[in-house]
Amino acid sequence: MNKGLNRYAILVACATFCLIIAGALVTSHDAGLATSDWPLSNGQVFPKMVGNLFWEHGHRMIATTVGLLTIGLLVYILAKEERSWVRRLAKFAMIAVIAQGLLGGLTVKLMLPLAVSAAHATLAQLFFCTTVSLAVFTSRSWMKARALPAEQSGTLPLRYLCTAALVTIFLQLIIGATLRHSATWDHRLPNELILAHIGGALAVVIVLGSATLTVLRRHSGQKFLARPATLALTLLVVQLFLGVASYITRLGSPNDPQPLNPMVSITVAHVACGALVFATTIVLTLRVFKVLPTPVHNLELALRPQAKA
Ligand code: HEM
Ligand code: HEM
Repeated sequence: MNKGLNRYAILVACATFCLIIAGALVTSHDAGLATSDWPLSNGQVFPKMVGNLFWEHGHRMIATTVGLLTIGLLVYILAKEERSWVRRLAKFAMIAVIAQGLLGGLTVKLMLPLAVSAAHATLAQLFFCTTVSLAVFTSRSWMKARALPAEQSGTLPLRYLCTAALVTIFLQLIIGATLRHSATWDHRLPNELILAHIGGALAVVIVLGSATLTVLRRHSGQKFLARPATLALTLLVVQLFLGVASYITRLGSPNDPQPLNPMVSITVAHVACGALVFATTIVLTLRVFKVLPTPVHNLELALRPQAKA
């Protein structure tokens, strides 16, 4: 295990989380078209950071920093890491950050079309989860983790439950991004998308709730699994409150003279907490796959005593 590499991977993940907040601030201030220029801002590398340009250009500068950090992570991993699949994931992170930068430029050039803005918001979450996964794979706890006994036969394998939670959250993030980018603060959000998003929230509560509670019931003594499960559950509760608060503040926003607080801070917090729910569920799922045997292996173990008998 290389401590320096792990710390660097954690730094990249934290910087990406800050970038998601910076991006969400652009959207909530409706500052996406503070300049219609790209890759320069109003023909300059460093324009005066006035008005909405503060949010838009600030986001670009943080994105550039994250891009450079990602190049550094790829070089570091290629130099120090032997596992070929980790090296491949670092290359994927590099491609994802370039694609994300290009999508950012495209959304400006095309004047914020819904599909491109929603894709930019969704790829941001995927890129964040890639950096979180790299931090997990290079960590000491990952290297040290030992396999746990097989789960009882006849029970729903945690691998399936966690994967289902991950897919449900990802779909919910896409619906959330489509909802958020379908109307700026001065317009009402479309009812059908709000209903789809509330339905998605219900599905996430059921699937992620079952996955985390099952982990806590079966493996409460295993910090490796219990910690991300507790964190994911807590963040989910916070996210639900933030979602309701986002809805209430968005209801009043078309009558505001400009994007105001608390609407800006609550909607940004909802985007950021959504990223954290997704990231902690990724950590939980990866760890479940690491220490719990495959369900097929479970079946073999369950059949073995019968074969002997
Ligand atoms: C490289 C990594 C990047 C990441 C991870 C990232 C992430 C994000 C995120 C999370 C949002 C907020 C989405 C939301 O609130 O729904 C956002 C918005 C935005 N980003 Fe980026 N971004 C990146 C690069 C760029 C670049 C290079 C540009 C260049 C112009 C850019 C332009 C924008 C714009 C204009 C918005 C607002 C879109 C809207 O209001 O419809 N982004 N970004
Ligand atoms: C499982 C729980 C939830 C998750 C994971 C989640 C996730 C998200 C995400 C990630 C976004 C923004 C996507 C982006 O632009 O990148 C969003 C937007 C939104 N969500 Fe949720 N959400 C959840 C529950 C809820 C609930 C219960 C409500 C209540 C009605 C809600 C209301 C909203 C609203 C109004 C927006 C748009 C905010 C805006 O226009 O700025 N969400 N959601």
